[in-house]
Amino acid sequence: MSPSAVADLALQGQEPAASHSKAIRPSNGHSNSNGTKPTTKRTEFLLDRNLHKSFPLVVGGKGNLLYLADGRTVFDATSGAAVSCLGHGNPRVIEAISNQIKTGVPYLCSSFWSSEIVEELCKELINSTQGKMKRVYLIGSGSEAIEAAIKLARQYFYESDPNSPRVNIIARESSYHGNTIGALGVSGHVARRAPYEPFLMDNVHHVSACYAYRQRKDGESDASFVARKAAELEAKFQELGPETVIGFVCEPVVGAALGCVPSVPGYLRAMRDVCHKHGALFILDEVMSGMGRCGTLHAWQEEDVAPDLQTIGKGLGGGYQPIAAVLISSKIVNALLNGSGQFVHGHTYQAMPVQAAAALEVQKIQREENMLQNVQTQGAYLEMCLKARVGNHPNVGDIRGKGLFWGLEFVKDKATKEPFDPRLAVAQRVHDTAISAQFNMTMYPGTGTADGYAGDHVILAPTYICTKADIDHIVDVVEGVVNQVFQKMAGL
Ligand SMILES: Cc1ncc(COP(=O)(O)O)c(C=O)c1O
Repeated sequence: MSPSAVADLALQGQEPAASHSKAIRPSNGHSNSNGTKPTTKRTEFLLDRNLHKSFPLVVGGKGNLLYLADGRTVFDATSGAAVSCLGHGNPRVIEAISNQIKTGVPYLCSSFWSSEIVEELCKELINSTQGKMKRVYLIGSGSEAIEAAIKLARQYFYESDPNSPRVNIIARESSYHGNTIGALGVSGHVARRAPYEPFLMDNVHHVSACYAYRQRKDGESDASFVARKAAELEAKFQELGPETVIGFVCEPVVGAALGCVPSVPGYLRAMRDVCHKHGALFILDEVMSGMGRCGTLHAWQEEDVAPDLQTIGKGLGGGYQPIAAVLISSKIVNALLNGSGQFVHGHTYQAMPVQAAAALEVQKIQREENMLQNVQTQGAYLEMCLKARVGNHPNVGDIRGKGLFWGLEFVKDKATKEPFDPRLAVAQRVHDTAISAQFNMTMYPGTGTADGYAGDHVILAPTYICTKADIDHIVDVVEGVVNQVFQKMAGL
């Protein structure tokens, strides 16, 4: 980033960084709906994501901050799991949801009806692709979106030939596409697949990820690296028989599995070309990296590589409603129009007006307030500060990302990139330290980064409303946490 750009950032209106640690709690004191003070005790009736841990109770949120029942205020530097892009408690979104509920139709059966708000959301989404995608399939979660995308991809070929030999999907190692059996089958996330391997589809095949930090050869240019990846995909098509391949699925920027690893420039286009050469579909999973997270509304827009099918989620509804979608290009829509006219799929909770009301308002706010500009500006500042403050740390192997989506990969040895022993649970230590009462900030941990088993990273994914002062706070905490965790580990 140029010095003038840094100066520009400094001129933007900021609140003092000190306000983060002394955040003002809302005056209502977060009473429960029955007026009693919130309890700090857990009931032990919820099957937590980890039964060996006790997750604190959150009683409220505002902007970047979460308020805990034990009195703490935590800075949400990850927007949950890269979800709450507008921050917490946005009054416009809350009002839009409430107004929709008051119409009496938060839910409608999507086999019988549509509604104005759903139509408006779909128009907003299609317009955001400059017409490169033609229809929207609304659904409740990212995993459901991937399930729908792979079924729609298969049906695209089935429409013209019920005996179509196209039954294989190519996806990538070190990827995460969701936890339902189909979505997990597409994923290349070793740890999440392990218990369910016997259930998972055997018609999904994996090629390597596009992971420059660990895969680029000495002196290898972007073009040569991309050519190597395209050759690998081509070889996989040949191995399976090109006429058997439905399509190739990838995340433009790998989220949970690798920690914000962007595609090397030219990669997406090269992979799409291989798919199209063989009449197969190019499918992008933008559930985590899309909807503005990487600085363009759709990650593919940076290099204008529109896919045939695209999944979105997380930032679509910004956490105000569970909503995700598949964006569908004209060739697939036309195959349905010219064929059965019916996607053989569906869920009870799909295209719900209340989901659409939330997502539409989130998208309108983002557009009207030009938040993509803020994602780009604060993202560039975050990159610069992270690299300056922890880039030289001996255990920070790589800092990579885009927009407001940044990953730090930790290594035992910076020169050899040797990962830590997984038993040391380094990423979890970093997360636990960050979220402790000493630092009060979220950092999203991930493991298996190096080879599926070993390797540690954390993700930072601040809200799109974050300011320069917020970034300064995040980087102060990151530096403090990283120094403390590795100093303690050195003393073990
Ligand atoms: C790229 C990607 N695809 C799909 C999913 C699954 O989404 P969900 O958890 O909403 O089912 C995720 C979740 O993290 C994701 O990151």
